[in-house]
Amino acid sequence: MSETILVAVAWPYANGSLHLGQIAGAYLPPDIFARYHRMKGNQVLMVSGSDQHGTPITIKAEQEGKEPKEIADRYHREFLDSWQKLGISFDLFTSTETANHAKVAQDMFLTLLDKGYVYRSTVSQAYCPQCRRFLPDRYIEGTCPHCGFTGARGDQCDNCGRPLNPAELTEPRCRLCGTPPQFRDSEHFFFKLSEFRDRLLDWVRQQTHWRQNVLNFTQRYLEEGLIDRAITRDIDWGVPVPVAGFENKRLYVWFEAVIGYLSASKEWAMSTGDSERWRRFWQDEAKSYYFIGKDNIPFHTMIWPAMLMGYGGLNLPYDVPANEFLTIEGRKLSSSRNWAVWLPDYLSRYDPDPLRYLLSVNMPETGDTDFSWRELIRRNNDELVATYGNLVHRVLTFTYRNFDGCVPTPGALDTSSQSLIEKARESMTTEDGLLSRCQFRLAIGSAMQLAQEANRYLEEKSPWKAVKESRQAAADSLYVAIVVIAYLKTMLYPFLPFSSEKLHQLLGFDGSLEADGWQPRLPSPGQRLLPPEPLFSKLDEKLADEEAGRLGKYI
Ligand code: MF3
Ligand code: ZN
Repeated sequence: MSETILVAVAWPYANGSLHLGQIAGAYLPPDIFARYHRMKGNQVLMVSGSDQHGTPITIKAEQEGKEPKEIADRYHREFLDSWQKLGISFDLFTSTETANHAKVAQDMFLTLLDKGYVYRSTVSQAYCPQCRRFLPDRYIEGTCPHCGFTGARGDQCDNCGRPLNPAELTEPRCRLCGTPPQFRDSEHFFFKLSEFRDRLLDWVRQQTHWRQNVLNFTQRYLEEGLIDRAITRDIDWGVPVPVAGFENKRLYVWFEAVIGYLSASKEWAMSTGDSERWRRFWQDEAKSYYFIGKDNIPFHTMIWPAMLMGYGGLNLPYDVPANEFLTIEGRKLSSSRNWAVWLPDYLSRYDPDPLRYLLSVNMPETGDTDFSWRELIRRNNDELVATYGNLVHRVLTFTYRNFDGCVPTPGALDTSSQSLIEKARESMTTEDGLLSRCQFRLAIGSAMQLAQEANRYLEEKSPWKAVKESRQAAADSLYVAIVVIAYLKTMLYPFLPFSSEKLHQLLGFDGSLEADGWQPRLPSPGQRLLPPEPLFSKLDEKLADEEAGRLGKYI
């Protein structure tokens, strides 16, 4: 039976280029997952967009002396280009600056207000006497009351991961000038998060299929209790608050950005000509998966679910497979110190599949993992080129030359041939289960093991020697290898879509590989092959030092 899957992907702030930490954590995993489910014939909707509001954008705009909109538009266009080059297959990648998003966010706000889950209260708001302005949360730094970290921001502590209110910081200071802020009265709307604590805890305890880190973090957090949170701010960039008297305030970026999953689904539905179609992905049997980095966990396992509970009638997240962090050459990634590998930079020099491969085998699913150029080059050369690429290339070139460019016709297959084909089927079933549970590292591992088995089989059969004595024996083993290769192109498609589609063509199939579905169409004897070309190329080891040398430099 076909399933309905919403693939909800974290909205990147449109204030800078994407880096590999974000790709490994939040963008590649949902793409693998969406491609897999599409191949399975399931209904998939994969949405996200650029997060265009909030202080990350205004700080950047201030630094550059530009309007926030200009900054946001620039990076939005860059994101779209990166998705296309890296093959991140969104059904819709929109932004929080659309009229539709404002409408959906305001509807959520007004409904929660109507139902009594949002209330007004006067708060003392940080104000910098030196800069003469209200300070948004991110413009305040201080000491975290929970863990004592001295570089905590007014919205969140990067050390212990807890969301914060600026007033909770001890020794707060203005991030622009270092002055301790004053607190002045300002009226704001609050979301009654505290009221959802018991319902959330009941719900979370049932999510035994969640990753352990996500479940533990959320449970511990809920057990400590929840406090109500202000969802409006004294700023002028963002979604207007639809209440008279609040013209100079905006919805808090975190409150409205998570609503993006819903507004984007509605926008997508309108673009298909059936404006109610989003409901399939938000109601009834549909399952929603939220792909995020670990710093976003509380917003997706507590705040957004509470908003959905309050709103009513929409599905809660089915899973939130948050990833840990990617370090770069052994050090914590830092955008400000340029200790990062920027995606547009990578894509301007290299192919997408080697990166997708490395980040898949090295995905930070259960703990932090490291990216290094040396590892990228090694895995490309030893695994993509030597194990998988060579298997394909040896088989296709030899077959092409010796069997008139066609898939050979096998005779009766011996036991080792039959058992390799059996192994291919088993690996596929194993991978299927792993992918459905978002265990991507193990999933790609099971495909690569099959490639190794196929290499061993070919060593044993050596069709290049066998052909001299028995053309049939060579035909048999090449046919079997081609069948296994056909399995591999399907099994690797979610991870390596570009090379898999290419291999699909080299094997003489027409139409797209994705349309073939998860059960691979097997090559028929006599099927015409295309002239073989290598799937991957070796990378020069010297590049490792050259590339690593760019890190930490100011550009
Ligand atoms: N822009 C946020 C970040 O980069 C993530 C927003 S995810 C969403 O950390 F849920 F708000 F969409
Ligand atoms: Zn100041």
